[in-house]
Amino acid sequence: MLADFFDKKGFLTALAPMQDITDAGFFARIAECGAPDFFVSEFLRVTPTSKLDPKILNAVLSKPAGKDVAAQIIGCSIPDIERIVNAYAQYPQIDCLDLNAGCPAPKVYKKNVGGSLLKEPREIAEILRCMRKNWAKTLSLKMRIGFENDKNFFEILRIAEGEGVDFITIHARTVKQLYRGVADHSYTKKAVEFLKIPVIANGDITSAQKAIEVLSYTNARGVMVGRSSVRNPWIFRQISEALCGREIYKPTLGDVLKYVYGLLNDNLKTCRECKLSGRMKKFLNFVAVGVDKDGNFLNEMRKACSTDELMKVCEKHLGGENSEKLFAFEPYPGLCSRPNHES
Ligand SMILES: Cc1cc2nc3c(=O)[nH]c(=O)nc-3n(C[C@H](O)[C@H](O)[C@H](O)COP(=O)(O)O)c2cc1C
Repeated sequence: MLADFFDKKGFLTALAPMQDITDAGFFARIAECGAPDFFVSEFLRVTPTSKLDPKILNAVLSKPAGKDVAAQIIGCSIPDIERIVNAYAQYPQIDCLDLNAGCPAPKVYKKNVGGSLLKEPREIAEILRCMRKNWAKTLSLKMRIGFENDKNFFEILRIAEGEGVDFITIHARTVKQLYRGVADHSYTKKAVEFLKIPVIANGDITSAQKAIEVLSYTNARGVMVGRSSVRNPWIFRQISEALCGREIYKPTLGDVLKYVYGLLNDNLKTCRECKLSGRMKKFLNFVAVGVDKDGNFLNEMRKACSTDELMKVCEKHLGGENSEKLFAFEPYPGLCSRPNHES
């Protein structure tokens, strides 16, 4: 069980849940480049009419590189949460359920779920109590430091531990911050000092070097990586190498091109032709901030009007004479993957 894993292993790595990105295909790509210790699915919206979603279930059951995938849920209605937890409990292959208490999208949190739960510690207590009662295996909470400030931070930590959560992942920003600014891992450190259960640090773990810095500063039991794993799918392998003091794998732009073709093949199976270039751009927006410091790949890729054009841009920047160039460990400063969501 994942919960026991903490006793055996020094530090854990995890792939963060990312809606519309972390499907079974993406898990397979990550597994190919070096799997983390566990993966987390994108959230399943729990509503009075919701059922298990076949696409999410497929990802949860996919066991990439033999590793566990935690199934994340988002919701607030206790009877519906109970129903969905019991539906997941029918699958003995699933080890871990995770509650989302951090989603910052207004259309989501305005329904009093996700990040909005951080305003209501008592609701978090009720939800976790219901999950714990109906789920015998690993239970985790993924939270931000608060909604607009840290006023409920310690109360929520205390509640989660008291309700029997096995570990907590902290994305060290408030909900109102979205993805702006820099994650403040002094909160991760405070949580580690406050709790007996393990804490996983999340937010701006951009490289193996950054993972080591955050782990040694916070004493967290692991790191969870989101956006930087889309840019650099080798990051989990690199973190393990750095933790063992081994030489860190240095991917080339040619390796990045192979990864991009892998993503293309995955998405050809699941995505309609007319949506394919938009879907690929979702991934390439992240990849591009590590390709060239002037953002030429990012700009040209965004202007491509078809999948053919997009792949020609990829070949031009990542293939041919560029293929031997090293892929940057960190994103280039000043380049932005998601201009609408981040400053
Ligand atoms: C495109 C995208 C989708 C996300 N979807 C989810 C989600 O479904 N559930 C969740 O808990 N967090 C979600 N997140 C937040 C990430 O899991 C993570 O907490 C955040 O990106 C900070 O980590 P990072 O700096 O390593 O990216 C999402 C983030 C991004 C960028």
